[in-house]
Amino acid sequence: MKIVLDILEERISAAMASAAGCDNCAAIVRPSTDAKFGDYQANGVMGLAKKLKTNPRKLAEEVVKNLDLSDICEPLEIAGPGFINLRLKTDFLETAVVEIYNHYVQEEYLGQVPRCLRRFGIDKVSNPKTIVVDFSSPNIAKQMHVGHLRSTIIGDCICNILRFLGHDVKPQNHIGDWGTQFGMLCALLSRKRIEIGKTGEKVSNTIILADLEAFYREAKQLFDTDEDFANEARDAVVGLHKGNQRWTEIWRQIVRESEKHHQEVYRKLRVYCLHDSNTRGESAYKDDLPGVVADLKQKGLAVDSDGAVCVFPEGFKNKEGQPLPFIIQKSDGAYLYATTDLAALRYRVNELKANAIIYVTDSRQKLHFEMLFAVAKKAGWVGDDVELSHVMFGSVLGEDGTPLKTRSGENVKLKELLDEAVERAKSVVEEKNPELSQDEKETIAKAVGIGAVKYADYSNNRTSDYVFSFDKMLAMDGNTAPYMQYAYARIKSIERKALDKDVSIEKELENLQTLNLTEPAELDLAKYLVRYGEALQAAAADYRPNYLTAYLYELAQKFSAFYTNCPVLKAEPDKRPTRLLLCDLTAKTIRHGLSELLGIEVVEQM
Ligand code: ARG
Repeated sequence: MKIVLDILEERISAAMASAAGCDNCAAIVRPSTDAKFGDYQANGVMGLAKKLKTNPRKLAEEVVKNLDLSDICEPLEIAGPGFINLRLKTDFLETAVVEIYNHYVQEEYLGQVPRCLRRFGIDKVSNPKTIVVDFSSPNIAKQMHVGHLRSTIIGDCICNILRFLGHDVKPQNHIGDWGTQFGMLCALLSRKRIEIGKTGEKVSNTIILADLEAFYREAKQLFDTDEDFANEARDAVVGLHKGNQRWTEIWRQIVRESEKHHQEVYRKLRVYCLHDSNTRGESAYKDDLPGVVADLKQKGLAVDSDGAVCVFPEGFKNKEGQPLPFIIQKSDGAYLYATTDLAALRYRVNELKANAIIYVTDSRQKLHFEMLFAVAKKAGWVGDDVELSHVMFGSVLGEDGTPLKTRSGENVKLKELLDEAVERAKSVVEEKNPELSQDEKETIAKAVGIGAVKYADYSNNRTSDYVFSFDKMLAMDGNTAPYMQYAYARIKSIERKALDKDVSIEKELENLQTLNLTEPAELDLAKYLVRYGEALQAAAADYRPNYLTAYLYELAQKFSAFYTNCPVLKAEPDKRPTRLLLCDLTAKTIRHGLSELLGIEVVEQM
């Protein structure tokens, strides 16, 4: 099945091509902003007329003459200087919605029984790409903070949408697990073990490393004050670089402990694709770094500059107009974040066979990625056929408008933030539905609390900063998770009521070929239901989850208008199946969007 917008785009583009006698015409079909002008509008004729130096209105008439959309649209209208207004036919909608409702495909999973998956009238792309998505990527020995929240969930949602559209998605967790700071961390763990060993106590690494951040602080302080310790740390760095077994083993334990913490947060967030096989941290590239520098030198791109090795990509200047260096090796021989990113990029192109690589980080890294892409292209490591994108996002702000911090001015820890969200959601549940059992309340509070944090993040335009407010994100009205979850639960309650009234939804919808749409609110909802694919394509094209949340929110509102105006269970027999199907398809669409794509749990009652 094709989505409506694509069918219109294709057919109108073809009619434009034959009217104008040229190919590659774009109809530029968009949903109308005002129902007065129909449901969709084709805006491409004006541009084409300009190119052909002809009258746009006349050209539009030619195009319409060449165009048969009578199976989908009411007679076409030309408006203004050459817009073509399109209004969907009711009988088209009546069958399209049923087809969308019944659109399943068999999916094969490696070593699993094939499953039937709903596609909502959305075909997989015909030219799937291999897309590497670099996201989350926290740093070892540091707690994940809210900054990592955005990368983790935005990245995950992008993966889910691209995968649903049929691409081969390769998530990459580029964790910060390498660098000179590991010298002091390893030295401290080694020292603690020796001390504990002396007392004969048996204390596991998990306990020593329970608070990794405190561990890091202690190591840093010792490094700055204790000469012996600093020397041990330097030995450790050298040892690690040489692949010395003892230091490598200690390093691995620190990484493993840290990973446990990250995995716990991922589980809470319902982010499931960042497992071991998708984790390839900075350390994975350590042996490639000398080669990166040597290659860039050999290509004449990297030069010695004040002892360091730098590339000066074209077009990058500092405030004084001086060329800006992309530093790939320091004067002491150490490699940098940039060097590792160059190595990772080569790996992703050569080994993972990426057609596209997406980096999800905050906007402060904008320049880094611009320079990285420029250097990699200049070196010929990525061809024009590989698309590189920095999907950046703004900061999470506190209510005072400055970056979110705890009262004592520290970074807010992600785990604590999520726990608080669940705690606060409990009172929302208590208020809404005090009769539920304690267990049910806990489950709902978890879904609502975590869902609220994620949804608030998604629903903001990712490039802007946003103010983190528990009150706003947990509000029952407005574009929030609880509102969406409640909308879903409300539809499910219709199903429960149907059961009580001995109405079998399954029977009523069985063999239904077409709907019977008569009321404006029904039509409005039906027209919106067929637009799910549009929303997903738009979200994927720009890597913007807020297009999906906006769609779901509007869908819930249209459903609400429908439900207020059109009785469902009490409807006449010739209307009830139509309305039951509209309810069910709305519920399934909301569940798919929330649960499968945004990773937000839905609940059957609230
Ligand atoms: N570890 C980095 C940070 O916490 C993010 C890494 C992003 N990915 C990359 N390939 N540079 O800021």
